Amino acid sequence: MSTHWRFLIILHLLRFSLSSSHPIKSNPYLQFPCKPPHYNSYPFCNTSLPIKTRAQSLISLLTLEEKIQQLSNNVTQIPRLGLPAYEWWSESLHGIATDGPGITFNGTIQSATSFPQVILTAASFNRTLWKSIASATAIEARAMYNVGQAGLTFWAPNINIFRDPRWGRGQETPGEDPMVVSAYAIEYVTGFQGENWRADGGVQYGFGEKRALRDDGGSDELMLSACCKHFTAYDLEKWRDFTRYNFNAVVTKQDLEDTYQPPFKSCIQQGKASCLMCSYNSVNGIPACAQKDLLHKARKDWGFKGYITSDCDAVATIFEYQNYTKSAEDAVAIALKSGTDINCGTYMLRHTQSAIEQGKVQENDIDRALLNLFSVLLRLGYFDGDPAKGKFGKLGPQDVCTSEHKKLALEAARQGIVLLKNDKKFLPLNKNGVSSLAVIGPMVNDTSQLGGDYTGVPCNQKSIVQELQEYMQKTSCAIGCPDIACNTSNGFMEALSIAEEAEVVIVVAGLDLSQEREDQDRYSLLLPGYQMSLITTVAAVTKKPLVLVLTGGGPIDVSFAEVDPQIASILWIGYPGETGGKALSEVIFGDYNPGGRLPMTWYPESFTHIPMTDMNMRADPSRGYPGRTYRFYAGKRVYGFGHGLSYTNYTYKLLQAPNKLSLLGSIKPKSKKNILHQKADGVDYIHMNEVENCDLLRFYVQISVMNKGDMDGSHIVMLFSRVPHFFKGAPEKQLIGFDRVQTVSYQSTETSILVDPCEHLSIANEHGTRILPLGDHTLILADLEHTVTIET
Ligand SMILES: *[C@@H]1O[C@H](CO)[C@@H](O)[C@H](O)[C@H]1NC(C)=O
Ligand SMILES: *[C@@H]1O[C@H](CO)[C@@H](O)[C@H](O)[C@H]1NC(C)=O
Ligand SMILES: *[C@@H]1O[C@H](CO)[C@@H](O)[C@H](O)[C@H]1NC(C)=O
Ligand SMILES: *[C@@H]1O[C@H](CO)[C@@H](O)[C@H](O)[C@H]1NC(C)=O
Ligand SMILES: *[C@@H]1O[C@H](CO)[C@@H](O)[C@H](O)[C@H]1NC(C)=O
Ligand SMILES: *[C@@H]1O[C@H](CO)[C@@H](O)[C@H](O)[C@H]1NC(C)=O
Ligand SMILES: *[C@@H]1O[C@H](CO)[C@@H](O)[C@H](O)[C@H]1NC(C)=O
Ligand SMILES: *[C@@H]1O[C@H](CO)[C@@H](O)[C@H](O)[C@H]1NC(C)=O
Repeated sequence: MSTHWRFLIILHLLRFSLSSSHPIKSNPYLQFPCKPPHYNSYPFCNTSLPIKTRAQSLISLLTLEEKIQQLSNNVTQIPRLGLPAYEWWSESLHGIATDGPGITFNGTIQSATSFPQVILTAASFNRTLWKSIASATAIEARAMYNVGQAGLTFWAPNINIFRDPRWGRGQETPGEDPMVVSAYAIEYVTGFQGENWRADGGVQYGFGEKRALRDDGGSDELMLSACCKHFTAYDLEKWRDFTRYNFNAVVTKQDLEDTYQPPFKSCIQQGKASCLMCSYNSVNGIPACAQKDLLHKARKDWGFKGYITSDCDAVATIFEYQNYTKSAEDAVAIALKSGTDINCGTYMLRHTQSAIEQGKVQENDIDRALLNLFSVLLRLGYFDGDPAKGKFGKLGPQDVCTSEHKKLALEAARQGIVLLKNDKKFLPLNKNGVSSLAVIGPMVNDTSQLGGDYTGVPCNQKSIVQELQEYMQKTSCAIGCPDIACNTSNGFMEALSIAEEAEVVIVVAGLDLSQEREDQDRYSLLLPGYQMSLITTVAAVTKKPLVLVLTGGGPIDVSFAEVDPQIASILWIGYPGETGGKALSEVIFGDYNPGGRLPMTWYPESFTHIPMTDMNMRADPSRGYPGRTYRFYAGKRVYGFGHGLSYTNYTYKLLQAPNKLSLLGSIKPKSKKNILHQKADGVDYIHMNEVENCDLLRFYVQISVMNKGDMDGSHIVMLFSRVPHFFKGAPEKQLIGFDRVQTVSYQSTETSILVDPCEHLSIANEHGTRILPLGDHTLILADLEHTVTIET
């Protein structure tokens, strides 16, 4: 019997039981509002009415007590209106995850595609890939919703900047560069919320047809809801006495404008995300969920339409950890009045009633929140009756863990893996020329740690050694250390004995979730425990130099390995997901030419002398502060942002780029006479709000990429810019465009990158205002530089 038939029969049985004497209690997972027997004639079930009308109608039917019950992720049923319980919290960071209570893997669907952790996928710098993963995850999520195993509202992506290498959740993010994180946010959200379905009407998968948007005010329908988190300046878990719950991030206006906020702005403006999550921490003394100005700005200036959820218990922390208010009621009141619509947790459930009695919250504060909440659910079709009859109704178990999705997971791992070192072209190994392999390390025979955090149940997770054995039957394996913490060298002897025997030795070292995760930052950037000793001890006995494979999301100081001639090659595989072992094997044996580049700086251990709590991006030599990320840190690095080798070499030619740009015609007439007065450090500049028609200034940089080796390869082109020297607080350089291009051995390929001077060549000044310096800007493409002079 096919799973599909089994599913239909189960559905049939459930329908039957729903109409029995205890309709609400019997099957909590397959009830949908406005679906018979819950259909009612209230306007909120009437699909021909506008969203706002339907939402307002529903609000008008609720008692105050029922309204308060809506302010939690775990919403109680309201049988008299035919409303089942709803769980707002589901997770989908890199595939459907088990972390949210909205997901269960114990029904018809028992697993879902587990893509690599985000930091590795980010290393592919491939927007198409990013979007495809989000779309595939959305298909699996909708399928799970249809069979009652998931909600419609998901709390991903994590788009905080990977500011400090010790951060336990850096792995969840697309790295340290605001432009890359913004680009990722846009692809993830548009892919996950179903932009492709809107664009092609589902033709690709053969379901449904394009439904006319029936709405006022641009509240487009949604396939699923994605959430930009965590707003804002959140990137510390637990370090010394600081926890994410009590931390006050002190952030300059300049850093806020050009580092911390851009991903959120893009996620909302271009991604059109329908959810924003405020974080635990305070920003400059005000808890994020009480940041009225910032939350308001997101709606007013960025056009946010959706709901704002607190991180879990982030309303409680306003009072209990941040001590920002005098009572629980005050915390609820300030969160609601600042724009937070729902609280993950029970805090609002418990304290809103008394907040109302004390006059701190008014019923219309709650109505405003409910309008945002119900509007999103309505856009998702939650109140449209039987989901099986809807546009996404045919998605089911047959659409989860498909070969197409598993191939995409493999593709992501292939494209993300970074070759950090490759002495004398040691890799790739010749499939027919190597007689035996030894694979050593605590992770090599493990299948539980390859996804990183926010992982679900993979379709078919295989270990690294299993996949290598597919290539080389004669592969032996030893763990060397009992676990990643590696606090004993007891396993070294076994490792050494197989290392001596094999022709080629691969050591897999690095991090897993015991070292870096939610609520846990690292203190050191070195390999944990005796891992380094394991590597060097093994390297001393091998016939040939060995291959070192590094796992984990955070940077590791492996300077010792970079300089050790006994270590020929180093590969970083992040948390490569369920097909990661296969991708690694393909890279090692040359079936895939690696092209990933690091999305974050790898700092030396000495970097840990600076407090993790220092949010400043910019260096401050007067107090020995080195600054952060490739944009501001000029100190020693183990590997820089964008580092990544390949089995071939690439050279570039700049085919076309302008030498001069004239702002004449783009400056507001009134502003012209002021320009000469706007000097900073001897350089003229213009305020961005004095520039109009930015579109007219856009230009393409045309680039030719030559593959100078004997393997085809997919290669990432990165274009940087630098503003005229010297502008206080300006980045060393800033990534302004990237593209991943397919290249053919000994041939050149062309690509072009669109530059929008207003967006890409402007910088934030100390007041957090964007300005465009006049004069010579430098475009940087590897070792090529090109000057573009901006004049009035
Ligand atoms: C739904 O709303 C439309 C438009 O107001 C109205 O014509 C129709 O009668 C309503 N349907 C039901 C079942 O109430
Ligand atoms: C959700 O709330 C209901 C009561 O309304 C409770 O029985 C249930 O345990 C809660 N579920 C979770 C996951 O907290
Ligand atoms: C599935 O898991 C959920 C939550 O863990 C539980 O409430 C439910 O009873 C389980 N269902 C089955 C069929 O085991
Ligand atoms: C905050 O308040 C709690 C009690 O709610 C108290 O235990 C804690 O010491 C206070 N913290 C600070 C920093 O004042
Ligand atoms: C890997 O672990 C499994 C048990 O989890 C064991 O059966 C198998 O022999 C191990 N493989 C190797 C190559 O050691
Ligand atoms: C090493 O770790 C194990 C568990 O991970 C623990 O039982 C043991 O006590 C640790 N040994 C030392 C020397 O810290
Ligand atoms: C790439 O070029 C460098 C410098 O010319 C050379 O040392 C290296 O071997 C080349 N690598 C490959 C893979 O061709
Ligand atoms: C980008 O990713 C897509 C989707 O996996 C893939 O088809 C394409 O080949 C990739 N582009 C390059 C240049 O690798």
